[in-house]
Amino acid sequence: MGWRGILGFEYGIVLAPLGPDISGPELVAAVANAGGLGILRAPDWEAPDYLRELIRKTRTLTDKPFGVGVVLAFPHEENVKAILNEKVAVLQVYWGECSKQLVQESHCAGVKVVPQVGSLEETRKALEAGVDAIIVQGREAGGHVIGQEGLISLLPRVVDLIGDRDIPVIAAGGIVDARGYVAALALGAQGVCLGTRFVATLESCAHPTYKRKLVELDKTEYTNIFGRARWPNAPQRALRTPFFNDWKDFPAHENELNQPVIGRSTVHGIEKEIRRLSGAVPNVTATGDIESMAMYAGEGVGVIDEILPAGEVVKRLVDGAQLLIQTQFSGL
Ligand SMILES: Cc1cc2nc3c(=O)[nH]c(=O)nc-3n(C[C@H](O)[C@H](O)[C@H](O)COP(=O)(O)O)c2cc1C
Repeated sequence: MGWRGILGFEYGIVLAPLGPDISGPELVAAVANAGGLGILRAPDWEAPDYLRELIRKTRTLTDKPFGVGVVLAFPHEENVKAILNEKVAVLQVYWGECSKQLVQESHCAGVKVVPQVGSLEETRKALEAGVDAIIVQGREAGGHVIGQEGLISLLPRVVDLIGDRDIPVIAAGGIVDARGYVAALALGAQGVCLGTRFVATLESCAHPTYKRKLVELDKTEYTNIFGRARWPNAPQRALRTPFFNDWKDFPAHENELNQPVIGRSTVHGIEKEIRRLSGAVPNVTATGDIESMAMYAGEGVGVIDEILPAGEVVKRLVDGAQLLIQTQFSGL
């Protein structure tokens, strides 16, 4: 049955790596302990010693396997070496070339490689590189969006392209509960990758105001107003907060560099200034004008009505999917 595990994990539930540091050790361990694949997020700069500590801290909280996500658009070679030396279960990669060499080196270290892709072209390249599974991101997704179309149309085409190869397809974008999970299974996925639902959990490192907004608000927009200087040509899906509604027409020739500092936060151990319209979502250490910071969310946010423990999110997905399949779709 599709709701069973993938890649050696008990269940096909994946916690997306949540930048810059929202999926920390507590959240990853909670998902791992519940039988899912939790993914830490590596810093966007070379910090192998710090990353090693992050991995080891996670291991003090769970004896289950987990992964680390790397955004290939930023410096990462030393970080990847640290990840492979630590032999985590999965290296997730995003926004850049997932090369054959990277896959081979990972496999030599016993680490599986799982890229997140947003098109058929990217899927083809990932298959050529020899990856172990593929996360397909639809345009509904929260955070930075590489998905070129809606999940309901892209996912089955990726599934068809992969054919009978033993490479699980994991659906991402707008999925927050068992109904979305079963829908993804019906489209041919074997697992689901959730971001926004896991931001709104007790264990996530998101600022309490960001979590609260995910419960209160229900509309998102595909935009590019955040972090244009630091990460150009990387559109985002963000929550339509009052701040967003005031700034959504931010002129295309401007960016965060000429905006005032509105707060501070410590990201992966480094204290940083947060400028208005910078791309970093507020983590738990953020201070200042939190309501004016980026708050990424997928289109499924309207279905989120409470902050839950992450293990409960996994349990409800699995139990709910089983129940739905048994009661609605068996014996038709
Ligand atoms: C706050 C936030 C941060 C994210 N950071 C990353 C990241 O660092 N790397 C990555 O591969 N995906 C990242 N994503 C996107 C997820 O991998 C995934 O595609 C998305 O969350 C799925 O849509 P959903 O949010 O509707 O569940 C992020 C998403 C959110 C909401």
